[in-house]
Amino acid sequence: MNLPSFLWLWKIAAWSMGLSLLAYLLLGISGIWMWNRRISKHARPAWLRPFHWTMGAILVHLVLLLLGIGLIGTLGHYGSLGHSSHLFAGLFVVALVSISAISATQISPQRPWARSLHIGTNIILFGAFIFVTLTGWDVVQKYLP
Ligand code: HEM
Ligand code: HEM
Repeated sequence: MNLPSFLWLWKIAAWSMGLSLLAYLLLGISGIWMWNRRISKHARPAWLRPFHWTMGAILVHLVLLLLGIGLIGTLGHYGSLGHSSHLFAGLFVVALVSISAISATQISPQRPWARSLHIGTNIILFGAFIFVTLTGWDVVQKYLP
């Protein structure tokens, strides 16, 4: 496989990552907003929860796209996986986003642990995102001319 045919793949990765970070930011803002409204017992704007849901679904798909690009690109180039800590970082992010999304579907007054799990995984996810971006940026240098 020659280099130019691979660079576009990493460009999609970089763009997806930018959008993922934007989605994370908007999820954080809308999530804290929902939290505030709940604690202060004020009504939420009707669009707030659907917005948070939609952004969450977008984040899940972007992260899975990144996983697919990473696995296919690496297999295409090396024929094997596990060439740096970026593999662990990527799998960790996908695991956290999955736990976050699944726990989100369980949030209700009867299941307070689901909210704690949702918020806890998302706080850890912040660090994991930085980790995957730094390690991804590191391996991308090998492909740049
Ligand atoms: C992975 C995708 C995500 C999905 C599908 C999702 C979905 C949800 C759902 C359904 C709720 C419950 C809303 C309610 O109480 O009615 C919720 C709550 C919350 N989410 Fe997310 N979320 C996601 C990601 C995130 C992220 C990345 C953050 C923070 C950076 C976040 C922060 C919060 C917070 C703080 C709450 C609590 C709101 C409250 O206490 O009322 N969420 N989320
Ligand atoms: C949530 C975000 C991401 C996930 C889930 C992810 C996932 C993966 C996975 C699983 C691999 C295979 C690694 C291996 O087997 O060694 C990979 C490879 C790779 N990823 Fe990512 N990645 C993400 C973000 C990024 C970012 C932000 C970049 C940089 C722009 C990037 C660039 C690369 C490159 C260049 C490789 C080839 C690895 C190598 O040559 O050693 N990734 N990615």
